[in-house]
Amino acid sequence: MNADNAGLDPVHRLRRLRRSPALRRLVREHALTADHLIRPLFVREGERVREPIAAMPGQCRLSVDRAVEEAVATWEAGVPAVVLFGVVERKDAAGSGAADPNGPVQRAVRAMKAAAPELAIMTDVCLCAYTDHGHCGVLGEDGVDNDATLPLLAAAAASHAEAGADVVAPSAMMDGQVEAIREELDAQGHAGVAILAYAAKYASAYYGPFREAAGSAPRSGDRRGYQMDPPNVREALREVAADVEQGADMVMVKPALAYMDVVRAVREMTNLPLAAYNVSGEYAMVKAAAERGWIDERAVVLETLTGLRRAGADMIITYHACEVARWLSES
Ligand code: PBG
Ligand code: ZN
Repeated sequence: MNADNAGLDPVHRLRRLRRSPALRRLVREHALTADHLIRPLFVREGERVREPIAAMPGQCRLSVDRAVEEAVATWEAGVPAVVLFGVVERKDAAGSGAADPNGPVQRAVRAMKAAAPELAIMTDVCLCAYTDHGHCGVLGEDGVDNDATLPLLAAAAASHAEAGADVVAPSAMMDGQVEAIREELDAQGHAGVAILAYAAKYASAYYGPFREAAGSAPRSGDRRGYQMDPPNVREALREVAADVEQGADMVMVKPALAYMDVVRAVREMTNLPLAAYNVSGEYAMVKAAAERGWIDERAVVLETLTGLRRAGADMIITYHACEVARWLSES
């Protein structure tokens, strides 16, 4: 201590409440438990296949039988939900595979409902993994045709609901997609199926590993004509408001880390449950640094996910879900 400070007594000694683990527990403001986590799974064709995804160590493309095993393990680990993404080889201009009642996602939903009836099953609703051009909607004269895409998304969502999905999660960033899906679900007798809207989804470089995993990178161009521009936050609130008006039951901000301020802003504007998507690139960075021994993976992941809870997320979609559930049960 500097001699000039001798005798000065700080008025606020905030360290008093940090002196023991018990005191820290008592004054802790936010908690992370497995209850908040949603585990993404990639489902492909075939049988007994676990095909590792290079840029996402620990994640695989799974055939339906293996995906069902993972769904059961997810529930047993204490994680209440999965979100399914389809990976298919047969693609066409309209992404018609997205609504195939015998597609890998639809078959996986049916099999998971039978094997793990209590697990909440969510499905991603988009066309990009099913179109030969890799865009999230059908192409028209002037890029992706918003309105022509809506019935295709609605049909895909209805096929997931028909298979038994509890929640459908439209991620195409087409205007009006929530309303189109809600109307179709209701018309088909699925009024009880909820919509988790990817409301504020940004055109992000952090989706790179996912696109390799799902084979969903656009053949030409990019997604900036429909996904949000990263510098914008007021616009995210307009997106959320639009989705709420159209009947969203829950909303999402994606990606998570570079958008924590957006999570906070959305938290403050809506009372709907809010999800943050800790995306593939965020996962890959942690795994890469951990493999090199440069960070303490467990501590970093728990700190990050707790930070997302502090930012205002109720739910977190994360590829770390099962390992986090295990770490939390050990501690
Ligand atoms: C499909 C979709 C994407 C992600 C979720 N749904 C990719 C994209 O929009 O290009 C990204 C998830 C991740 O990176 O983990 N529209
Ligand atoms: Zn898409």
